[in-house]
Amino acid sequence: MMRADNPKLTLVAGGAGFIGSHLCQALLDRGDHVICLDNLQTANPDNLGELERNPRFEFVEGDVIQPLPPGIIARAGRIRRIYNLACAASPPHYQADPEHTMLTNVIGTDHLLRLAEMSGARFLLTSTSEVYGDPEMHPQREDYRGWVNCTGPRACYDEGKRAAEAMAFDFARMNRAEIRVARIFNTYGPHMNPDDGRVVSNLICQALTGSPITLYGDGSQTRSFCYVTDMVEGLMRLMESDIDGREPVNLGNPEEFTISVLLEVVRDIIPTRAAVQYLALPIDDPRRRKPDIGRARLLLRWEPQTPLAAGIAKTAAWFAGQLDTEKLRIKERVIAA
Ligand SMILES: NC(=O)c1ccc[n+]([C@@H]2O[C@H](COP(=O)([O-])OP(=O)(O)OC[C@H]3O[C@@H](n4cnc5c(N)ncnc54)[C@H](O)[C@@H]3O)[C@@H](O)[C@H]2O)c1
Repeated sequence: MMRADNPKLTLVAGGAGFIGSHLCQALLDRGDHVICLDNLQTANPDNLGELERNPRFEFVEGDVIQPLPPGIIARAGRIRRIYNLACAASPPHYQADPEHTMLTNVIGTDHLLRLAEMSGARFLLTSTSEVYGDPEMHPQREDYRGWVNCTGPRACYDEGKRAAEAMAFDFARMNRAEIRVARIFNTYGPHMNPDDGRVVSNLICQALTGSPITLYGDGSQTRSFCYVTDMVEGLMRLMESDIDGREPVNLGNPEEFTISVLLEVVRDIIPTRAAVQYLALPIDDPRRRKPDIGRARLLLRWEPQTPLAAGIAKTAAWFAGQLDTEKLRIKERVIAA
């Protein structure tokens, strides 16, 4: 992991979530002072445990759609970096309150961009491969404009992220803030929320609990899975790079797997005889997803390092450690739902 020359005061909005908690740890490891701003909407409170033992870590509970807490505004002049990860990332969670999801992306991003302008901090938005929708171009390059449905149930997230990108690029064009935009593709690893309905956490939890394995569609749809520490390295490289920030950068694993192959990898690590139940594909679920990471390779000298089987093994070990009796009961309820 890179080291900063000087300790920086860094704000991570959404830092208590899955990717955010790993990012906060990596920033602490290189010597930053980290303020994590999070409303705990989808965060697992366990994610904060180790972070809070570090005296350079500070947790502030707050919602980015509200005016930013005075304690953060008061230190604006010292904040050097702002990472915006605040937004529920899995469909069941971001669709539970779609208005809040849209406002998080639009109002929340505006609040954080204005903080960046006020403080002169560099701002990084975690956008998403969802801005490409159900893509007609494969693999997806940053100049592909997407095939997105603005009337469907995923629009609050997809269109919210597109609006957040538009606003960030406007701040850059008008020299109001220095920005970086990462388009994140499927990421997995420890600290994922077991009930968020994502395919990796679903399959691992189902295999660990011996529950029926649920596959949406026929399992032939593809995804690319990036291990979380690789993703965090990419985000930090992008933030610290001197590239022209007025272009987004895809971050993800260019290796493409069908969901059926992912299931075989999971079953190799966690043997299970549970039957596979095939369910209907959710509305607007993309059939293929794979990043072109040429820009990240060229500009950041970055590409994922963790093979799928190794990453799934680490993730499964972490979930297994979480499976005490109470959590097991919760998972069984979720998986049965
Ligand atoms: N995990 C992925 O595969 C993936 C893929 C593409 C993009 N992303 C993006 O990366 C970011 C992090 O994703 P994640 O997987 O860690 O999701 P996550 O749900 O685990 O983390 C999101 C965090 O943001 C917080 N949050 C949500 N709304 C908020 C609000 N209004 N104010 C303050 N905090 C708020 C949540 O409590 C949570 O801690 C998200 O912006 C997501 O859109 C993730």
